Amino acid sequence: MKISILGYMGSGKSTIGKDLAFQLGLDFIDLDAFIETKESKSIIELFSSLGEIKFRKIEHEALSEILNSKKNIILAVGGGTPVYYNNMEIINNESTSIYLRLTPNELSNRLQKEKEKRPLISHIKNEDLPEFVAKHLFERRNFYEQADIVIDVRDKSTTALVQEIIPHLPLHGK
Ligand code: S3P
Repeated sequence: MKISILGYMGSGKSTIGKDLAFQLGLDFIDLDAFIETKESKSIIELFSSLGEIKFRKIEHEALSEILNSKKNIILAVGGGTPVYYNNMEIINNESTSIYLRLTPNELSNRLQKEKEKRPLISHIKNEDLPEFVAKHLFERRNFYEQADIVIDVRDKSTTALVQEIIPHLPLHGK
């Protein structure tokens, strides 16, 4: 079984993905970490040295490589991954996808403390974050909403979310 976890920056994809992988006895892969290892550069360095367009190409190739080759994994993709190339089609063809949904306000509250490693928001002032996130999420939500499973995160604990996700998973998944 392959499971892809999607959602905006700060939605908890890696935290929930790791816990879900542990509960199901599957390997966990974080797409950003996979790219950082492969390119020997941090995401911030990749954005500043290559620019976003080249980063998206590398991200697309890494996504295809993982979903076409690995079996039995939980993959946390980046916040922008579903939006570029035919990535959402690959994600849905090759895996069961889960969208972790939060409101723009919940996301901007979380992201105020987690901006530094995220090139798209690191320069945005905290007071401008809610408006930025609201617009950005509006542009991206049509892609996220194509996920097989949509989970409202709200203020649920990681354990509660994992327990909520498990019954939705297909017994004979992709
Ligand atoms: C991005 C999200 C980041 C990372 C990059 C771009 C985005 O991943 O891929 O900074 O476009 O939303 P996280 O969602 O894990 O922060």
